[in-house]
Parts: sequence; structure tokens; C-alpha cells
Amino acid sequence: MRLLWLLTALLAPPAIAQDAEGRRLFTSVTPACALCHTLKDAGAAGAIGPSLDELKPDAERVVKALRNGIGQMPAFRHLTEQEVQSLARYVESVAGR
Ligand code: HEC
Repeated sequence: MRLLWLLTALLAPPAIAQDAEGRRLFTSVTPACALCHTLKDAGAAGAIGPSLDELKPDAERVVKALRNGIGQMPAFRHLTEQEVQSLARYVESVAGR
């Protein structure tokens, strides 16, 4: 039990910080994902692209869309590798929640 508590204490804060960073990027990169996509966790209700809550893409699918663009969605080549990874993990972990 004590080990579980220790694990929670060690792992929870980074996970929360990571979500906060992903959420911030989702609404602040240019153009903002939130403009085009619905994602409840980020308070986003865009309707140009598919609802990510319904699509529930895994991180790999998000990374691919950001690197290459897809259909009407532009590629996000100006983001750093770290920003792309943060966004991808964030979307995978909160979509459909
Ligand atoms: C200008 C509007 C627009 C913006 C901004 C935008 N998207 Fe999209 N996105 C779309 C459209 C439209 C599609 C559907 C493309 C298609 O399937 O033809 C899409 C598709 C996707 C998909 C699904 C890809 C697949 O494999 O089907 C993901 C994941 C995604 N977007 C994530 C994001 C994230 C994360 C951001 C912010 C970094 C973002 N989008 C910004 C319009 C946008």
C-alpha cells in the first residue's frame, strides 16, 4: 500500500503537468487545433475537422497528421518535436473522456 502511494506521488504530478502543457498547446498553437476540432477536455468545440472525442486517435495518428497534414488540415512543421509529442500524448490520453 505504501509502495502504491509512493508510485502515485511520483507519477501523478508529471502526468498532470503533461496534460496542462498539451491542453495549452491545443488552444494556442497557430492555427489552434481548437479552431477546427472538438475536444471536451480542452474546452474546444471546432467543427471544421472531425471531433477528436469521437475519433479517439492514438498518439501515432496525431503525430502523422501534424507532420504531414491531412486533407484540409495543414501540416504543423513549425512545432518542435517536443510540442508535437506533448500534443499527441495529450490528445490520446483525453480524447473521448
Ligand atoms: C484549419 C483547421 C484545422 C486545424 C487548425 C487543425 N486540424 Fe486537425 N484536421 C482538420 C481536418 C479538416 C481533418 C480531416 C482531414 C481528412 O481526413 O481529410 C483533420 C484531421 C485531424 C486528425 C485525424 C487524422 C487522421 O488520421 O484521420 C487529427 C488527429 C487531428 N486533425 C489533430 C489536430 C491537432 C492536434 C491540431 C492542432 C495542432 C489540428 N488537428 C489542427 C482540420 C484542422
